[in-house]
Amino acid sequence: MKRVDVVLGLQWGDEGKGKVVDVLTPRYDAVARFQGGPNAGHTLEFDGCKYILRSIPSGIFQGGKVNIIGNGVVLDPILFRNEAEELAKSGHDLTKRLCISKKTHLIMPTHRLLDAAYEAAKGANKIGTTGKGIGPAYTDKISRNGVRAGDIFLDFKNIYAKAKARHEAILSSLNYPCDVAALEAEWFEAIEYMKRFSIIDSEQTVNDMLAADKSILAEGAQGTLLDVDFGSYPFVTSSNTVCAGVCTGLGVAPGRIGEVYGIFKAYCTRVGSGPFPTELFDETGKRLRDIGHEYGAVTGRERRCGWLDMVALKYAVMIDGATALIMMKSDVMNDFDVIKVAVAYDTPQGRTTVFPYNIESGVTPVYREFKGWKCDLRKVRRYEDFPQEFKDYVSFIEQQTGIPVKIISVGPDREDTIVR
Ligand code: GDP
Ligand code: IMO
Ligand code: MG
Repeated sequence: MKRVDVVLGLQWGDEGKGKVVDVLTPRYDAVARFQGGPNAGHTLEFDGCKYILRSIPSGIFQGGKVNIIGNGVVLDPILFRNEAEELAKSGHDLTKRLCISKKTHLIMPTHRLLDAAYEAAKGANKIGTTGKGIGPAYTDKISRNGVRAGDIFLDFKNIYAKAKARHEAILSSLNYPCDVAALEAEWFEAIEYMKRFSIIDSEQTVNDMLAADKSILAEGAQGTLLDVDFGSYPFVTSSNTVCAGVCTGLGVAPGRIGEVYGIFKAYCTRVGSGPFPTELFDETGKRLRDIGHEYGAVTGRERRCGWLDMVALKYAVMIDGATALIMMKSDVMNDFDVIKVAVAYDTPQGRTTVFPYNIESGVTPVYREFKGWKCDLRKVRRYEDFPQEFKDYVSFIEQQTGIPVKIISVGPDREDTIVR
């Protein structure tokens, strides 16, 4: 019986999951998203083309693999349709190889309004969400009021109307205008469009595939530090982005999890509000943003940038049970004289290497400095050919985490990847 391997983010998202899933897909029979929704923006580049995927798994470009949107995902039919139609226009018709779980929850137009209304009500304490209705859709799921993909074959109009009436009451209590007429028509058209795809009991499909010795790669969205339980709460997303989310988000037992690839950037970024101990507000932070093109794939927002944070990385490795590491975007620091890594935090209670509960109350990172490699890593294709300064950086991360760095990415293209 095969196991499910996992690619998931170890930081605050945007680590490069889409690129890596695409690179790894040839090894697998299927790729499955297990949580998140169109808050994700996964970028893939190959053959001079660039694609940004939001709800559709990143395994669609490598041959005829099965791609699954799992039960743990929240799906916006309108955004899904736009995404699938764009792909069809560029020659990637997915109707035969993309399936959606019947238990996937649907994002309604009123969920987007609720997202905006809750953010407005929070004022200065807003989360800085992507505005895609993620939190409200997961809230409905947990409060047992959600609308699921499988419902579209039932008394759907009625199920929808009940959910909408509840949302309208909340919006009215928040004095937030509720005008979804235009979006609603588009939403129902998109529901009809969804019927072209197989809407299935995906937990059954996934387990049948494993029993038939077929391999599956689970693709995470967001990152461990945005997890609703273990992230910097409340500045998190509303799903379990950690490895345990694969079990609930696809219906696979814990013992069926195989390799867990934890992916991180050679530095750190974060979009939206919330604590970020190693954030740089100076020229170096600006350089990381400019050279790394650190702007949100979905919202275009500037990503906050800072040094690699080993305290946070080790915490994520622990929670996820990472068995292999993947380091991205090392090339962004090609010209840096000095590269820093946080190895501890100074807190009012003293120095710690444990990720603290009240991180938002302010911690001061303690840095270790590394000599920059000062050469163009993008040209390198074999690990042996990396400069010694770069190898020292990688060895330090391996020694600190106890996990091997098995893949190194030195550019956005599929080809800019070194597998050890
Ligand atoms: P994801 O959400 O984890 O899939 O990551 P995003 O796509 O949001 O952000 C990663 C960005 O970095 C994208 O623009 C990628 O094209 C780009 N990228 C990925 N790997 C590398 C790399 O090794 N070097 C550089 N310079 N860019 C990369
Ligand atoms: P990928 O999969 C980076 C952030 C938002 C916000 C918080 C909550 O591309 O790595 P939400 O809309 O989920 O309620 O917003 O989470 N966020 C992401 N940041 N990458 C993502 O996805 C993100 N998805 C959500 O900016 O701070
Ligand atoms: Mg992204």
